[in-house]
Amino acid sequence: MSKKILVTGGTGYIGSHTVVELQQAGYEVVIIDNLSNSNEEVLDGIVNITGKRPIFFNIDCTDMNALTPLFSEHAFVGIIHFAASKAVGESVQKPLLYYRNNLVSLINLLELMPRHNVKGIVFSSSCTVYGEPDSNPIDENAPIKPAASPYGNSKQINEEIIKDFIHSGADVKSIILRYFNPIGAHPSAEIGELPLGVPQNLVPYITQTGLGIREQLSVFGDDYDTPDGSCIRDFINVVDLAKAHVIAIERMLNDKSNDKVEIFNLGTGIGVSVLELINLFEKVSGTSLNYKIVDRREGDIEKIWAQPDKANNVLGWKAEKSIEETMDSAWKWQLRLREKGVM
Ligand code: WQD
Repeated sequence: MSKKILVTGGTGYIGSHTVVELQQAGYEVVIIDNLSNSNEEVLDGIVNITGKRPIFFNIDCTDMNALTPLFSEHAFVGIIHFAASKAVGESVQKPLLYYRNNLVSLINLLELMPRHNVKGIVFSSSCTVYGEPDSNPIDENAPIKPAASPYGNSKQINEEIIKDFIHSGADVKSIILRYFNPIGAHPSAEIGELPLGVPQNLVPYITQTGLGIREQLSVFGDDYDTPDGSCIRDFINVVDLAKAHVIAIERMLNDKSNDKVEIFNLGTGIGVSVLELINLFEKVSGTSLNYKIVDRREGDIEKIWAQPDKANNVLGWKAEKSIEETMDSAWKWQLRLREKGVM
C-alpha cells in the first residue's frame, strides 16, 4: 500500500510539478485546490506524464468544514502545503485577502494533523521572508527583517506559527522550504506555469510577450544598485525545486533528523538580473522581446540570491538545471499552450 501524501495547491505551478515527482517516487497523491489560480486540466498533464491520475478535491484550505472529512477519509502520512496567494505586487493591494488565505489555511491543517496522526508537513515558504538582505548570498541564519510586502509578511508569520505550534508539544514535524524564484516547466511541456489572467510573475509575462499575447513587458525599474540597474533574483528550475520536496518528505518520514523543525533555502546560489534574463530569453527563443523600463514596483526586493550549502549538504539536494535549459523549457511550454489553443 503506497504512502499517501496530501498536496494542497497541487494543481498550481510548483504543486503540479511536485505531484509528478511524488508519483514517480511511488507515493499516492491527494490534491486539494480551490482553483483560484489554476485549473483542473492540469490533472490531464500530470496523467500524461506519470500515467496516474491523482485524487482531486476542489477544497479551499480556509474551509475547515470541507477539510475535516478529508482527513477522516484518507490516512495521510504527510502534507505538502503549497496553497497560498503568492504575488508580491498583488499582496500590497489586497493585504486582508493574503493574511486570511495564507494564515487560516495553515492553521486549519496544523489543527487537523495531530487529530489524525499526520506526522509531518513540508511548508512552502519563500526568500521574501528575509526582506532586503544586508548581503548576498543569503543563508538560513540571516536575520529576518521586516518583510517588504504583506505576502512576505504572511510567510514570516506562517513560519512562526509552525514553530510555536511544534514548540507547544504537538507531535508534528516540519520542513520549511524557502524558495527563491521558481521558473521554467516540465521538459515534457505537459505542465508549466499557467497563471489565470495577467501574469504577476516575470517569466510567464516574458513568454506571453514573446508570443504577442501581451503587448509589451514592463521592467519595474533600472535604477537599482545593481550592475545593469535591474533587480537581481535567484531563478531556480521548477523541476529541481519539486525534487527537493520529495527529499524533504522522505527525510521527515524516515526521521532522519532530531530537529522537529528544519529550514532550507532552495536556490541555485546564482544571481541573475531581470535584464539578463530578458537577454537570455531572446537567445533561447530567437525572438526580440518588446519591453520598456517603468517605475519600480512597490514591495520589490532589490537583490537576493541563495546560499544553498545547507540544502546541498544536509538535505542532499542541489539545483542541477542550467538557466538556459530552464528558460528554454518555459518557452517550449508557452509554444505548447499556443499549439493546444489554450492561449
Ligand atoms: C521578479 C523580478 C520584478 C514582473 C516571486 C514570487 C513569490 C516568491 C518569490 C515563491 C522583480 C520584475 C516582474 C514584470 C518585472 N516565490 N518584474 N516585470 O516578486 O521576486 O517573487 O518569487 O514563493 O511568490 O512572487 O517574482 O517574478 O514577480 O518578479 O520587471 O512584469 O521581475 O520587479 O524584480 P518576485 P516576480
